[in-house]
Amino acid sequence: MSRIAYVNGRYVRHRDAAVHVEDRGYQFADGIYEVCEVRGGRLVDERRHFERLVRSSRELRMRLPMSRAALGVVLRETARRNRVREGIVYLQVTRGVAPRDHAFPAPGVAPSIVVTARSLDLAAREGAAEEGIAVITVPENRWPRVDIKSVGLLPNVLAKQAAREAGAKEAWFVDPAGYVTEGSSTNAWIVTRDGKIVTRPADQGILRGITRGVLMDVVAAQHLTLEERAFTVEEAYAAREAFVTSASQIVMPVVSINGRPVGNGAPGLTAVALRQDFHKYAESA
Ligand code: PDD
Repeated sequence: MSRIAYVNGRYVRHRDAAVHVEDRGYQFADGIYEVCEVRGGRLVDERRHFERLVRSSRELRMRLPMSRAALGVVLRETARRNRVREGIVYLQVTRGVAPRDHAFPAPGVAPSIVVTARSLDLAAREGAAEEGIAVITVPENRWPRVDIKSVGLLPNVLAKQAAREAGAKEAWFVDPAGYVTEGSSTNAWIVTRDGKIVTRPADQGILRGITRGVLMDVVAAQHLTLEERAFTVEEAYAAREAFVTSASQIVMPVVSINGRPVGNGAPGLTAVALRQDFHKYAESA
């Protein structure tokens, strides 16, 4: 079966899917995106992802090319045409195609939109969660507007590559004061020795993860104590557990940080329990 992508109004073969060389996403990273989990053929938390897309577009004064309803149809249709039951859909909107000039193009220039979908192996993902992942830390070097889900991800790319070269799966950015901000493509959490769940407030320095938001509901439902505050790398070393969250990884236990085992070096019970309950609290449609 050949993969299909949606590009500016048309479903095309993935291998033929392309945007113009003067697309502003290509030239300036002048674009935004969302990644939404597909589970049992349904989109997980589509509403919240769309709301965040709208927010990103407003912050960048970028027009969205279609309504929420129309976009929902395209996301589902792209998943369906690729026979994705378990996986992700990726959506990207850019400011469109125009002769290269840093300032915005003429108001009539249509935004570009691309949607792709990909199956992920559910069993392999569960297996990975049973193992947990290693994390390294890197200095925070991103712009202050990381609350916008923009495709300008070069620091994240370099951080992830550094993790890979260190034999780890994720890199946590650490701000100049020694506090963890977030992962290169995940939000960061710890569980303290006395069982409190700690994650950084989303008002500054991180992307407000959709998974993060839903997980807060799971934390409350499990009668756990949440502390929304920044934590240091030292605190993470001493934590009972650590984990990361994202649409594609849900809750992924962290078993080591910079080579030091977290807790007993195995996935923590809290992270596992939160992961198990996640989809009871996520919206699915
Ligand atoms: N990443 N922080 C960053 C920097 C991210 O890129 C992501 C998501 C998150 C978690 O957000 P959410 O829970 O809404 O997925 C936090 C996506 C999955 C990606 O870039 O592939």
